[in-house]
Amino acid sequence: MNSFANSLVVRDCILHGGDYSPEQWEPEDWRRDIALLKQSGGNVLSAGIFAWARLEPREGQYEFAWFDAFMDLAEREGLQISLSTPTASAPLWMGHRYPEILRVAEDGERFAPGMRVNSCYTSPIWREKTTAINRELSRRYGRRKNIVWWHVSNEYCFHCFCELCQAAFRNWLQARYGSLEVLNRRWNTAFWSHTYMDWSEIIAPGGKREISCEALWVDWKRFSTEQTADFMRHEIAALRSEGSTLPVTTNFMAAHEPLNYWKFAPSLDFVSLDSYPLYHDRRDNPITAAATSFHFDMLRTFKGGLPWVLMESSPGSANWMPVMKPKRPGVHRMECLQAVSHGADAVLYFQVKKSRGGREKLHGAVIDHTESADSRVFRDVKEVGDLLAKLRPVLGATIQAEAAVIYDWENRWAIDACCGPRREGKDYLETCQAHYRALWQQGIAADVVSSEADFSGYRLVIAPMLYMIRPGVAEALESFVQAGGCLIGTYWSGIVDETDLVFRGGYPGPLRQLFGIRSEEIDALYDDEENEVIAEPGLLPDQTRYRAVTFCDLIHAESASVLARYGRDFYAGDPALTVNTFGEGEAYYIAARTGDDFLTAFYTALASRTGLRRPITGALPKGVTVRERGNLLFVFNYDREPHTVEVLPEDLRDFLSGEPCTGRLSLPPYGVRIFEKLPS
Ligand code: GAL
Ligand code: ZN
Repeated sequence: MNSFANSLVVRDCILHGGDYSPEQWEPEDWRRDIALLKQSGGNVLSAGIFAWARLEPREGQYEFAWFDAFMDLAEREGLQISLSTPTASAPLWMGHRYPEILRVAEDGERFAPGMRVNSCYTSPIWREKTTAINRELSRRYGRRKNIVWWHVSNEYCFHCFCELCQAAFRNWLQARYGSLEVLNRRWNTAFWSHTYMDWSEIIAPGGKREISCEALWVDWKRFSTEQTADFMRHEIAALRSEGSTLPVTTNFMAAHEPLNYWKFAPSLDFVSLDSYPLYHDRRDNPITAAATSFHFDMLRTFKGGLPWVLMESSPGSANWMPVMKPKRPGVHRMECLQAVSHGADAVLYFQVKKSRGGREKLHGAVIDHTESADSRVFRDVKEVGDLLAKLRPVLGATIQAEAAVIYDWENRWAIDACCGPRREGKDYLETCQAHYRALWQQGIAADVVSSEADFSGYRLVIAPMLYMIRPGVAEALESFVQAGGCLIGTYWSGIVDETDLVFRGGYPGPLRQLFGIRSEEIDALYDDEENEVIAEPGLLPDQTRYRAVTFCDLIHAESASVLARYGRDFYAGDPALTVNTFGEGEAYYIAARTGDDFLTAFYTALASRTGLRRPITGALPKGVTVRERGNLLFVFNYDREPHTVEVLPEDLRDFLSGEPCTGRLSLPPYGVRIFEKLPS
């Protein structure tokens, strides 16, 4: 297998470009568009994604001459091509002739031909048709020198509820549980008299079907993930069957809820991401920025830290936003540098050129409807292009994190499926991001891992709301702490096992000894209710008060010591933060959901206590943070306000101007400065 890092080093530059649809334009347009792309510092086009109807206008009749001409032109012009399989959007004729290829939605209705990403990954006809077109593409283009990688499909994303998928689900369950007796026990189907007497009685959850069995939900999502990953492997196999050895990727979407991306990553040579943060709406920008970094760090972790590709981002405004705002000056540069500083070796856009018709004709693009270089967006892209050309020194550089935050898809599904302790606002993802943000704000890099990760290389592991504990996880966390690691857990942890059966003997189940606490009840708060967490001597300044919201776990310290207590209600004085010494390490339990005030204080204290390496010491203004990659230090102001940083080290020089760093730096809104570390 080709290592992505190597393949890019061969290219010797950070790739810059994006989605282009030659099928929507004439050859004279291609020439002008390619010239404009190159003028903007672009060197790669992502093509073929939605071209199936022009490549196979009638069943089995391929028309590749026009695409050959486009590929030849791109090659002559020195452009790289990210070549996609066109399976995200089937030609209309196919759905009309073979309705079984169309996905059935959760409400039981089958999609009509049209739209996109609405195929059934189980359908044998769909598998046959996709194999045929993928093989054709691979045979024709799989050995071309300027194809940089295969981009398989586009944003795999939904579950299909058709009969074929449900039959495959039953087979999957049979293989998993072996007998109905075991399945009934593991799902506790005696509840409401829902015992299965025959495999055929098992139907997918949702809509007007079964929704009361929470284990069924989790298994359905596990199955759908595996079915989708299996389809992706089927696509890759078709490409490989023609002898192509080009690296393969697919573009993920952040922490997209329906699919556990960890199951896809092993079949890919490198991973890529689509990222559309909304810096221009009314949300808090630092929260958006930290969430974006969280997704970047998760993606980076999928392949053990290897460089990754930003496959899509918008050079201008994304037209699906509730209110379409142009990107503010500086935002484009900041977003692209954020990706590079988090390990991306390529920055691509959706899209290179705006369509003339269709749903995305207003979506931001390098080339606007003016079809000229005379636009603010074009100039922003060109500025990034020029900068990326200078950033070659970071190519291939990986990021070493000493901390990890667990974000676990199966846990998320189980938390969401669970009826309680609140209907809304359980916010598992946002909670993981809030903990991550407290490190991010200090410039501390973290990996984002699943609960099945190998924790042994970290100093600090954060496991927010680890409701579902799969076999081996508690043991792995125990060994981590035993060996000197620092673990942080929270309320709503250790409740159920992998099939959603509650652990007998109380919460937090298999984590009880590790945290040295017992949880008896949980108080869920209304949105306008608050409690308080009041610090005691030990870690945080004594008597400091922090907000507690949404969930307050009512715990008893067993072997743990108490570091803070609740301030109000009938449980005032009960433990709200504890620490347990376990082997050589420590396990902290945060019993209540808190705000950023607590998390910042807590993780700042823990960072020094555990000796986490930080690129800078001293506090940064909110929304200003740093990131190291290779020999470079990136300083970001993600805020809409200007900020001054006083705590930069002085053994740095400005990477672009060569000027020495004085330790003090003023950054405009969305400003980024890049420094180079001086040899010591
Ligand atoms: C992505 C998709 C692209 C384009 C883009 C618009 O989700 O992959 O094809 O639709 O959104 O922002
Ligand atoms: Zn289906």
